[in-house]
Formats: sequence, C-alpha cells, structure tokens
Amino acid sequence: MGMSDLPSSVAPTAVRLPRYTKTDQEEILGDGADPFGVAATGLTWLPKEEHFGIRHGNRLVAHAGLLRLPVAIGNAETEVVGVGGVAVAPDMQGQGLARLVVTAALDHARAMGPQHALLFCRPPLVPLYQRLGWHQLDKDVLVEQPANRLVTMPLRTMVTPLHDNAHWPSEPVRLFSLPM
Ligand SMILES: CC(C)(COP(=O)(O)OP(=O)(O)OC[C@H]1O[C@@H](n2cnc3c(N)ncnc32)[C@H](O)[C@@H]1OP(=O)(O)O)[C@@H](O)C(=O)NCCC(=O)NCCS
Repeated sequence: MGMSDLPSSVAPTAVRLPRYTKTDQEEILGDGADPFGVAATGLTWLPKEEHFGIRHGNRLVAHAGLLRLPVAIGNAETEVVGVGGVAVAPDMQGQGLARLVVTAALDHARAMGPQHALLFCRPPLVPLYQRLGWHQLDKDVLVEQPANRLVTMPLRTMVTPLHDNAHWPSEPVRLFSLPM
C-alpha cells in the first residue's frame, strides 16, 4: 500500500480551499481577539485571495493564504506572492502541518509568475520560517495603511525564492498595498 492509500488521519494532505471565511479561521485558531498575536501593531491587513488547507476528519486544522502584491525593490517595480494567515490548530501544532500547508501554497505560487514569496511574522517565528527555507530581510519595508498613510512594517519580513536563480536585491522595499 502506497502513501496515497493511507487514510487522511495517517497521512495528512493539503488541498486548495474554494473559500476561507472567518468561521473557517475560528475552526482552526478559536475565536480569540488576537489569534495571530499582531493586534499590538495596530495594522490593517488584506484578506488573501487563494487558500490552502488541511482537513483532519471533517475539521479544518491548518491554513495558508496567498495573493499577488505590487512592490518596489529599490527602484524596480515588480510583484511578489504575499503569504499570510498561516495557522495550525493548537492541538495539531508541532507535527509538520505548517510545513505541509505552506509547501502546498508555495507549489501553487510557483505558477503565479512572481520570482519571490514574501511574508510578515512576529520575531519568535523567524527560526520556524528559516527552517522552511525563508530568509529575513534586513532592510526596512514600507507598507500602505488606510487614509494614505505609509508606515514601516514593525514585524519581520521574510522572503523565499519561487524559481531557480531568483535573487532578492538588498534594497529598501515598498508594498503598493496594505500588508497581508
Ligand atoms: C506558527 C504555526 C503556524 C506553526 O505551525 P506548526 O504546525 O506547529 O509548525 P510545523 O510543525 O510545521 O513546523 C515547521 C518547521 O519549523 C520547525 N520549528 C518549529 N518551531 C521552531 C523554532 N522555534 N525554531 C526553529 N524551528 C522551529 C519545526 O521543527 C518544523 O521543521 P521540520 O518540518 O523540519 O521538523 C502555529 O504555531 C500557529 O498556528 N500559531 C498561531 C498563529 C500564528 O501565529 N501564525 C503565524 C502567522 S505568520
């Protein structure tokens, strides 16, 4: 019997989700006020456009979202695939589900065009994403906020290449959108 014949409880797989609602997020992380621990930043965030998830029985237990974002890296205007809403149910953490769902999302991102994916995370999560092959940017990242404000992202910014030979220049970065 091959891996693919195993029941989902033994070999979890990530799938594309047709939609991802507030209720879906609450099914994973509960209905607490600040499930991602970023409320103190006061930032306004964009919803993601494409969603990947892992089901455990009938329950959604993991998610990662994607959307394409316009950016400037130095003077060069381009696009990145923004990754956000990465979440694993508390009782399912530490079993590789974030790795699995982020890998599925990045496999899809490789067909979207941009050379890199980019995410924002709290400092304690930097080692986790490094383990998944992401690199922390050492330059400030400007992001848009409501009422035409432009602010320096207070969280860590990490990138990962989506294609061979993709190289992230060491230049200031500016998102032409809200962060995701
Ligand atoms: C962050 C979160 C998604 C991680 O989910 P998880 O399923 O526990 O993560 P995984 O088990 O897939 O771990 C991914 C890898 O990071 C490694 N890792 C985990 N914590 C680590 C740490 N502190 N330092 C280094 N590596 C770490 C794991 O060992 C694993 O590597 P491996 O696959 O090579 O063994 C989960 O804790 C969560 O949902 N937190 C609340 C929501 C949140 O803050 N999301 C982040 C938004 S950016």
